[in-house]
Amino acid sequence: MERVKTGIPGMDELLYGGIPKRNVVLLSGGPGTGKTIFSQQYIYYGLTKGEPGVYVALEEHPVQIRKNMASLGWDVREYERKGLFAIVDAFTGGIGEAAKREKYVVTSIDDFGEFIDVLKEALRDTGAVRAVVDSVSTLYITKPSVARGVMMNLKRVLAGLGATSLLVSQVSVTDRGFGGPGVEHAVDGIIRLDLDEINGELQRSLIIWKMRGTKHDMRRHPFEITDRGIIVYPDKIVRTTRY
Ligand SMILES: Nc1ncnc2c1ncn2[C@@H]1O[C@H](COP(=O)(O)OP(=O)(O)OP(=O)(O)O)[C@@H](O)[C@H]1O
Ligand SMILES: [Mg+2]
Repeated sequence: MERVKTGIPGMDELLYGGIPKRNVVLLSGGPGTGKTIFSQQYIYYGLTKGEPGVYVALEEHPVQIRKNMASLGWDVREYERKGLFAIVDAFTGGIGEAAKREKYVVTSIDDFGEFIDVLKEALRDTGAVRAVVDSVSTLYITKPSVARGVMMNLKRVLAGLGATSLLVSQVSVTDRGFGGPGVEHAVDGIIRLDLDEINGELQRSLIIWKMRGTKHDMRRHPFEITDRGIIVYPDKIVRTTRY
């Protein structure tokens, strides 16, 4: 079976080699748990291995994303120039000077049809092997009833055009779930990132909740965020009574 490596130290071991190709994986967690850094590391690793990528920005300005990635050692500008990487700007709505320099802009964020069209264009132009949507929650947060439909459409486009995808899902600190029933069952995989206060200290951990098409590790592992991104510790286990 073909797999796509996350490239995050320690993570691919837990996935028995990587994410099965074309899977759409929900990357779920509370605020500050590392979802954005995880997904940027995933995209950048692909670029260094010759695998084009698309990053859909719904939460942060594309300029901010390039800057944050560069600060972690992941400079995407050269890949953008070569057409191997694209940021879909679903943040600015085309407003502002900086937005005028973006190539893939969703001008009306509430128009899901336009969103899908711009996404398709970016995926086709780059020949994307990897895609990230940060965050998918933004697409249905005010209308939970459309969540499943949005997700099925996204899945069709992403997997249909050959991408293996991470969809960032924002959940509240106390939420046991991963983003709502319509979403959790529709996706092929769920990776949950957590922050827990243990003895007065915040501890990061992650667990793979499901991954269609492969065996995967079932334990909760600690991870760290460093100046060069995320490191997962497959040999260490975190015991919390969260669930
Ligand atoms: N250079 C660094 N070294 C160590 N930790 C860092 C570094 N940069 C960021 N962090 C940690 O990463 C966190 C932010 O991670 P990230 O932006 O990926 O979170 P997120 O899950 O996307 O949050 P949100 O849901 O709010 O967007 C910061 O709160 C900080 O704890
Ligand atoms: Mg984020």
